[in-house]
Amino acid sequence: MSRKMFSLISALAIVVLILTACAPAATPVPPTQPSAQQPAATQPPAAAKGKLEMFSWWTAGGEADGLNAMFDLYKKAYPKVEIINATVAGGAGTNAKAVLATRLTGGDPPDAFQLHAGLEVEKYEPAKYLQPLDSLYTSQGWDKVFPKDLISLLKYQDHFWGVPVNIHRANVLWYNKKVFDDNGLKPPTTWDEFFKVADALKAKGIVPLVIGTKEGWEAGHTFETVLISTLGADGYKGLWTGKTQWTDPKVADALNTYKKMMTYANTDYSALTWDGAAQYLVDGKGAMHIMGDWTDGWFISKKYTGYGYAPVPGTAGVFDALSDSFAAAKGAKNQDNLMAWLALAGSKAGQEAFNPKKGSICARTDCDPKLFDDYLQSAMKDWSSNAIVPSVVHGAAAVEKWATVYKDILNTFATKGDVAAAQKSLQQSCVDNGVCK
Ligand code: GAL
Repeated sequence: MSRKMFSLISALAIVVLILTACAPAATPVPPTQPSAQQPAATQPPAAAKGKLEMFSWWTAGGEADGLNAMFDLYKKAYPKVEIINATVAGGAGTNAKAVLATRLTGGDPPDAFQLHAGLEVEKYEPAKYLQPLDSLYTSQGWDKVFPKDLISLLKYQDHFWGVPVNIHRANVLWYNKKVFDDNGLKPPTTWDEFFKVADALKAKGIVPLVIGTKEGWEAGHTFETVLISTLGADGYKGLWTGKTQWTDPKVADALNTYKKMMTYANTDYSALTWDGAAQYLVDGKGAMHIMGDWTDGWFISKKYTGYGYAPVPGTAGVFDALSDSFAAAKGAKNQDNLMAWLALAGSKAGQEAFNPKKGSICARTDCDPKLFDDYLQSAMKDWSSNAIVPSVVHGAAAVEKWATVYKDILNTFATKGDVAAAQKSLQQSCVDNGVCK
């Protein structure tokens, strides 16, 4: 277990150190508010009333189903509490994060909200707007059931700010099994194989690669997996710590590979979201889709079983990881109901209800694998044996402002196709964030 996320944490630790050095001093919590600083891990009695507002971007099939499964458990325990499911649609939090920031700074916070484990928390000025959850971790014994290195990833400025509900994998190649079988093809393991397979499919009038880039994060997501395959786990991690320079010729190789991949994509990609693109596979009109494993949850919700899965070419043995957690807003209106919700989110029952539907594996180490489908059981094995690298698009590898610039550069690249210009901007963004010289 320690090998798993050790490399991820060491990469992040360096970034955190750099950022801590550059960041303005955190606003101290007034000593007159001890309960807001360290909320007691109380749980309401079953007769609890009032509300619980949970904010997320989980509106698509699978992700909404997982959240509802956890809501159902909560309602059983606290039938009189009214749950407000505050969602802002848009994959990867494209729209939700901005709305959340406005609500936090405007003094109108939801009680709990979705937050990626890792450096994303920096965006919300945790010392000012979030409740540290250290005492909840202690009372729930979470130090024993979450992997040690995940626990380190969740710590920012010496406090826990979120309760992890899952682990997702970003570098998955989903494919339509029938399309592959009918054409005598095997899922590609290298980019050379990928382009051969893509040519064969194109010749048959099937869209080789489906992608939707409507929400502005999907190109960055796909490209981070190409970076991993081209630079390897260590080389990729180094991009976020300054150990690998973005001027490395392999970054240009990755950009060229991505550019070529897009010549095999559906022409309507800029109008589609990630799930809109995945529909191409369901309809048998498209062959391959690179996306995180929330796609597994979405396929389950569609009752679609004709899909296969493989690591993105060149990334076998590497797990591009991210974790969703739930955070608590300072000034939450329903403190006891909120603490009960977080306790459920971190519990075995909560995670076993949520993850098989969500298309993710538990953050806890004691979930029953038999509750999970074949893909998720394979993800569990990979999580415990692969090299782990942090996803940038999903909050783990870099602070939000760097991740945003990275995504913007990829979107400009998608329209302009200028490899040298994109590489220069990527290096500059590393310099601007104080990580590269
Ligand atoms: C990720 C998030 C996943 C899933 C995905 C698509 O950022 O961690 O849980 O929701 O976006 O929306």
